[in-house]
Amino acid sequence: MLSKLKMQGEAVVVTGGGAGIGKAAAAALCEMGATSVIVGRTEATLKETQSEFLARGWKCETFVADISREEDVSRLSKWAASTFAEVKAVVNNAGNNFSSPIHELPTERWRELMATNLDSVYFMCRDFIPLLLKSKRPSIVNVASTFGVIGNAKMPVYCATKGGVVNLTRQLAIDYGAQGLRVNSVCPGSTLSPRYKGYIDKGLVKMDAVNARIMLGRPAECEEIGDVIAFLVSDAASFVTGATMLVDGGQTIH
Ligand SMILES: NC(=O)c1ccc[n+]([C@@H]2O[C@H](COP(=O)([O-])OP(=O)(O)OC[C@H]3O[C@@H](n4cnc5c(N)ncnc54)[C@H](O)[C@@H]3O)[C@@H](O)[C@H]2O)c1
Repeated sequence: MLSKLKMQGEAVVVTGGGAGIGKAAAAALCEMGATSVIVGRTEATLKETQSEFLARGWKCETFVADISREEDVSRLSKWAASTFAEVKAVVNNAGNNFSSPIHELPTERWRELMATNLDSVYFMCRDFIPLLLKSKRPSIVNVASTFGVIGNAKMPVYCATKGGVVNLTRQLAIDYGAQGLRVNSVCPGSTLSPRYKGYIDKGLVKMDAVNARIMLGRPAECEEIGDVIAFLVSDAASFVTGATMLVDGGQTIH
């Protein structure tokens, strides 16, 4: 089992890999021997994370892109094709959220979150699947949410995008399974990323109410999600495809 978790420098692209859950996934993958390719919009954040990783003796590359933009994803996939002998996996992690009931939701805000959370997964899968199919034992992990399998108050776009990610994952697993590409989604529950901590600080999230819904009685640390993502990327998960992996401390079991 342990040998199947190990990688030999293969490239794994992690969107939103500069911070939060993406950074934790990229770190776990580096620990397992991968070259983490962290993608994000802010060069300074990416460089800071890269320095941290290189100082630990890990392999890490950065690429600045807004993955909600088709042309940025196209640039990224062309660069990856010309830079790496093979790309083993893609982790579609970057995402955002905001709260608004649908009757107050302007079209542009709907489109903005659709682009960040769902169009991005479409662009990334479309452009990277041909590359992944040239690799040995490739996979895709899409980061959805518990709110992709249950509803949540005042989050119509978020729930719609994450539900879309969950079922797009199943669909892709059907189309590409015969060619050896595994596609899975990870659905985190409340996780203490910089963004989520920001919501707590602003009083937008009431932790007592959140914790009451989680059977383990607390939110996740980013590493607890990142480790599961890294496992699914690895060959130790070689028979897992089309799965919706809830990593939520029991939030959705009742
Ligand atoms: N934190 C939670 O409680 C939680 C729960 C369920 C699901 N998720 C999902 O996990 C993923 C990561 O969330 P997080 O909480 O770690 O967020 P975060 O904001 O802390 O980190 C996300 C990273 O993605 C980057 N990013 C956002 N939009 C981007 C874009 N258009 N192009 C490139 N990079 C972009 C951000 O700059 C940031 O570095 C998201 O898809 C989120 O929906 C998070």
